[in-house]
Amino acid sequence: MHAEIGVIGGSGFYSFLDDVEEVKVTTPYGPPSDPIAIGTLPGGPGRRVAFLPRHGRDHRFPPHKIPYRANLWALRSLGVRQVVAPSAVGSLTAAYGPGTLCVPDQLIDRTSGRAQTYYEEGGAVHVSFADPYCPAGRRTAVEAATAAGWPPIDGGALVVIEGPRFSTRAESQWYAGQGWTLVGMTGHPEAVLARELALCYIPACLVTDLDAGVEAGTGVTHEEVLRVFAENVDRLRDLVINIATNLPTDRECPCPQTLDGLKLPLDLP
Ligand code: ADE
Repeated sequence: MHAEIGVIGGSGFYSFLDDVEEVKVTTPYGPPSDPIAIGTLPGGPGRRVAFLPRHGRDHRFPPHKIPYRANLWALRSLGVRQVVAPSAVGSLTAAYGPGTLCVPDQLIDRTSGRAQTYYEEGGAVHVSFADPYCPAGRRTAVEAATAAGWPPIDGGALVVIEGPRFSTRAESQWYAGQGWTLVGMTGHPEAVLARELALCYIPACLVTDLDAGVEAGTGVTHEEVLRVFAENVDRLRDLVINIATNLPTDRECPCPQTLDGLKLPLDLP
């Protein structure tokens, strides 16, 4: 079984592919969140896509328990080299309300204790991560969303918190004060693990709420996140299909060269 593009879907995202076959993948890091659905994009044969529900189909993995290493490893082992990653996020800016789409270009890691590297022994491997996302893939995402009539915020910084709780008002105001745009719980270590495997990683962030620092009252609730995600899931799925359909096949971005010249202590799948 083989696929070139991976989609790691967030809450409420279900498989959107045609001619789907399911594969159970094993990895040195345990099983991924769920069996992986491999199929073709609606509207024609085209490139093969592997879909993995980030939290598991029954949503059994909270953000801090997601088997991130297994997920990215499993996708690469199927042949995937480009990963589209839709997710729900909070907004740190009143101007970007629920329903806003954002394709961030930066990431701040505020997680703690998550396994965030494949290279733990046998020699250090330091990958560059100045720009955490694939520039060509980001461009495709921005263009696809704009063409679909859902123009995104192009750029901005996503701060990834450990969760599973939401931020306090003071934390949220601090993040906003730094000039950061979005807050989420799953963007790290997903992005860096993709980079460590020399994959292209393309975020597509749906704002489901204004975070506690922006809004008066009790702040964001889990119920609100699920409701707004459900309200937008159809257009987010259509967008992901569009992005996957239009991703460049040549990979002339820097991502494939990530590991050039580095001595790897393990064989990549
Ligand atoms: N995911 C969706 N909304 C969020 C928020 N406000 N904080 C962290 N993660 C989120």
